[in-house]
Amino acid sequence: MKKIAIYPGSFDPITNGHLSIIQRASGIFDEIIIAVARNSQKKGALFTLDERLEQLDMLSEKIKTNTALRAMSFDGLLIDFAKTQNACAIVRGVRNAHDAAYEQQMIHMNRHLSGIETVLLFTTPELSFVSSSLVKEVAKYGGDVSAFIPEEILPVFLDRIAEAS
Ligand code: COA
Repeated sequence: MKKIAIYPGSFDPITNGHLSIIQRASGIFDEIIIAVARNSQKKGALFTLDERLEQLDMLSEKIKTNTALRAMSFDGLLIDFAKTQNACAIVRGVRNAHDAAYEQQMIHMNRHLSGIETVLLFTTPELSFVSSSLVKEVAKYGGDVSAFIPEEILPVFLDRIAEAS
């Protein structure tokens, strides 16, 4: 049976840290669904849901892998979405002990509710301090974020930051 995993998040914007997790997870699964949460509690998104899905599809094409990658949005509980996609696992990237503690709670809850396991991958050290919010804040004040945002979306990201400022 195909091993399908869900890699969920807000991806506003997607960072090189996310891409690195997708690349690494692609060696483990036959298919990865990059799942953008529609009902994320985060307010004031920089990119619309459709824009993020387009960006994720476009960036997936540049990942060299035999694993099928596709971007989808989901509403409601992650595990319900995972079940509809016949996923056997959830993939999460952890950057530090704080992330790990937060993930521990979600892992136990998701497994309690569904039996679905979560695979945690530690972010590479050079990207372990990156978050989408931090990158947005640094860019807003003119800092160089080119090491953290995929080059394909950097121009539109900077335009959007300028418009929002
Ligand atoms: N490299 C760089 N940054 C990373 C990263 C990586 N490898 N992994 C995560 N991040 C950053 C993200 O950019 C994000 O930054 P931000 O907070 O500044 O936007 C931050 O870490 C948190 O990311 P993440 O943990 O993926 O959270 P999220 O808000 O993007 O997504 C959901 C959380 C959608 C997975 C979770 O809320 C969910 O499952 N919701 C559905 C409802 C549900 O099922 N709830 C019950 C859960 S038990």
